Amino acid sequence: MKTAIYPGSFDPITLGHLNIIHRAAATFDRVVVAIMVNSGKKQPLFTPEERCEMARRVLCSLPNVEVTCADGLLAEYARQYEGAVIVKGLRALTDFEYELQMALTNKKINPGLETYFLAASERYTYLSSSIVKELASYGADLSEFLPQEICQTVADKVRQEDKQHE
Ligand code: PNS
Repeated sequence: MKTAIYPGSFDPITLGHLNIIHRAAATFDRVVVAIMVNSGKKQPLFTPEERCEMARRVLCSLPNVEVTCADGLLAEYARQYEGAVIVKGLRALTDFEYELQMALTNKKINPGLETYFLAASERYTYLSSSIVKELASYGADLSEFLPQEICQTVADKVRQEDKQHE
């Protein structure tokens, strides 16, 4: 059984992430969506549990996809899935430098661990969780960017955060 681990912050999961997950699920026997910490990013909007819950809500119809929360290094986390590979989406050249650095570092720590890159679908090359949060803070319609199951959750959370900072 070939397993792909799709790691990320998913704060929140977007239609771009969903596109990568659907394509990975069509290629691999099992896809593990791993919600992890990116120490280079500022305080996430959602807790890991909230991000997991939203991802599960969106992905529940895909039988070979599971969602987990994971601490620590991705290269160490991946050891529990024998023969697994990492899958990442690449949106633009700017992603590549960072992703290559991550892939090579992960391989240094865990030499058997390969990273496969999927080119982001043209429709989503501009899309990121950060952009969505920015749009949400202006009360914009999020339905072009987020799975419909979580649009309201994200809009409510951003509004609630904004109120707390007023
Ligand atoms: O969606 P993101 O924020 O681009 O995902 C980045 C993520 C979470 C996959 C990355 O930061 C990560 O692998 N975090 C776990 C800790 C780790 O292994 N760091 C990388 C060392 S090279």
